[in-house]
Amino acid sequence: MTQEELFKSLIAHAKEYGFIFQSSEIYDGLSAVYDYGQLGAELKNNIKRYWWEAMVRLNENIVGIDSAIFMHPKVWEASGHVGAFNDPLIDNKDSKKRYRADVLLEDHIAKIEEKIEKEVEKGSKRFGDSFDEAQFRSTNPNILRNREKADDITRRMNEALNSNDLEAVKQLIIDCEIVCPISGSRNWTDVRQFNLMFSTQMGSVSEDANIIYLRPETAQGIFVNFLNVQKTGRMKIPFGIAQIGKAFRNEIVARQFIFRMREFEQMEMQFFVRPGEEMKWYEHWKEKRLAWHKALGLGESKYRFHNHEKLAHYANAAADIEFEFPFGFKELEGIHSRTDFDLSQHQKFSGRKMQYFDPETNESYVPYVVETSIGLDRTFLAVYSTSYCEERLENGEERVVLKLPAVLAPVKVAVLPLVKKDGLPEKAREIMGDLKFDFNCQYDEKDSIGKRYRRQDAIGTPYCITIDHQTLEDGCVTIRERDTMAQERVPVEKVRGIVDERVSLRKIFEKI
Ligand code: GAP
Repeated sequence: MTQEELFKSLIAHAKEYGFIFQSSEIYDGLSAVYDYGQLGAELKNNIKRYWWEAMVRLNENIVGIDSAIFMHPKVWEASGHVGAFNDPLIDNKDSKKRYRADVLLEDHIAKIEEKIEKEVEKGSKRFGDSFDEAQFRSTNPNILRNREKADDITRRMNEALNSNDLEAVKQLIIDCEIVCPISGSRNWTDVRQFNLMFSTQMGSVSEDANIIYLRPETAQGIFVNFLNVQKTGRMKIPFGIAQIGKAFRNEIVARQFIFRMREFEQMEMQFFVRPGEEMKWYEHWKEKRLAWHKALGLGESKYRFHNHEKLAHYANAAADIEFEFPFGFKELEGIHSRTDFDLSQHQKFSGRKMQYFDPETNESYVPYVVETSIGLDRTFLAVYSTSYCEERLENGEERVVLKLPAVLAPVKVAVLPLVKKDGLPEKAREIMGDLKFDFNCQYDEKDSIGKRYRRQDAIGTPYCITIDHQTLEDGCVTIRERDTMAQERVPVEKVRGIVDERVSLRKIFEKI
């Protein structure tokens, strides 16, 4: 199965089992907006809990808030989003399709990179065991030519975007001979800037109405509350404020399922530090955040850092943690050293001091900020797509299993009476009545036990326990593990301990 086919299957699976639905589906859907179903909401909540507790509970100097989505319009002028939160857009005059100019160029660069990798693959096949990849990459003329080409386009693109030179962006598209994927033509409009913020009006009478924006990031709700939290929480620098919440962006290229949405959720933490110490904390948080990801056990090689060359208007250093999605390595989380940009801007625009008096140095200053910003939906997609497996079993049967990290699984235990009679359902209900105080459980008595196991595999339930006639006599149940399908007979009192060992956050927290 190709990666594309696999991706299609897992999207269909997400719908079939109640993880993710297209928004407003009965009206043919709304592009790049999705609803989380009954199991998706559970999985999402578990990811949130893992993030929130790793931030707020494990770090004494980090507290969490929940600020409003609507904010004073001046916030977005101060933050630079009104003036600079733009994507460069270009239209193809023949297909009438609109593209992000930087994405067209990045896709073009990716194609050149692909050629390089194919050349390396060919070399490796030709030379077999004696293949020296580093030497091959540094001497093969085709690779060297393509490397130079890709680097030159990347350099020109970054220069043009950083200086907001839209004519140079268009010229680069022309020089690269990029064609519209739909019409195949090079009949392009000029490149224009397009603001990504959604706006609406506040006020009951339209004449009085004030334009307000749906927040494009949660971070600003933290900045404007910096002093409120610092004072009321008696926080001492360095300290952090964490928040989980919705953000909205009018994305032009919204694609790849829940990877790029117009309404999504972020989990952000702003860490306030002394000016001059930001690079130390930037490195600290890069390392910490990578450890958080890796502790989930999706595979160490699935992650890599990408250091930014083109910096956002507020940053003096930035890196992405990229994840290997079914469509390649893409950004999952950003770690940004935001300097004192945001607090200074709010100080300027609001006329209120956004300073901290440092009792250790006897100085007042505007703190610097290191931010960690992760997309909740992207984390969902990373976890979900990596866990999705189609397996052929030894007996020739097939099963679809979601090998979710047990700690994130929506249902932790399925309680299954072997048959629907002889007092087994009553016993099963009794056991579930106790387990449900600790875990999210699902009771199922319909169909054969094999079919019920498959249903639980398909939603990623780490454990099934089966209650049979013997249970009524000896108080033991069969506990079946999802990934190995191994079954063991254990006293019912032991079930809680076995499940807890695997699903509690403690084990994972010990690793980070
Ligand atoms: N406060 C900084 C900030 O918002 P960002 O790199 O624009 O930085 C942070 O966004 C994270 O939010 C990204 O790494 C990504 O995981 C997520 N994100 C951004 N735009 C998104 C979108 N349209 N759909 C889903 N997730 C998105």
